[in-house]
Amino acid sequence: MTDRLRLGVLVSGRGSNLQAILDRCAEGRLSAQVAVVISNIAEAYALERARKAGVPAVALEPRDFPDREAHDRAIVEALQSHGAELIVLAGYLRILTASIFEAYANRIINIHPSLVPAFCGKNMHGLRVHQAVLDYGAKVSGLTVHFVEPEVDTGPIILQHVVPVSEDDTPESLEQRILSFEHEKYAEAIQLIAEGRVTVEGRRTRILPEESGK
Ligand code: GRF
Repeated sequence: MTDRLRLGVLVSGRGSNLQAILDRCAEGRLSAQVAVVISNIAEAYALERARKAGVPAVALEPRDFPDREAHDRAIVEALQSHGAELIVLAGYLRILTASIFEAYANRIINIHPSLVPAFCGKNMHGLRVHQAVLDYGAKVSGLTVHFVEPEVDTGPIILQHVVPVSEDDTPESLEQRILSFEHEKYAEAIQLIAEGRVTVEGRRTRILPEESGK
């Protein structure tokens, strides 16, 4: 396939979602290719995963830049120099600034491990999300894939998946159960975008039937 959607994946940590995307691209199950992986943390294991897959891995650490905007401008340059068409946030723990939104308007997606708008927002990441779900006594949680807007976790929702909470769950067990669905569902959302089947009308997205995309 020649017109595979070129992804720029931004990561800060272990990169299991990145790995799921790399694997599905390699297996030909995704009409996409990872053009570049960029991290704000040079030691992030996700960068190692990129290198192992033969994908350019770029570390851009905030301390090497005068401010957030300059850091994000360097990220945009790296994305553009590798021809990235869609930014995929996969456990990226920094808030994006205007220069990224200007360069990639409506072309940034994120995955959050809860059913947005519950258990999301600033500082809600990692085990904190699952701890909050358990503390609240919610019977279901899940995941949300959404477009990214300047406000944290607020953009139009592309898809959600419900995962039951069990009475014996710990934050760790709930995280693992949701994570295994994240790996499937993030790839599914990327495939829908690659097929041109996701349209946005205000806050609402519409998934067009197969064969009706670009
Ligand atoms: C995932 O739970 C994702 O939903 C959230 O950050 C976590 C990243 O995990 N945004 P990994 O680095 O992909 O393993």
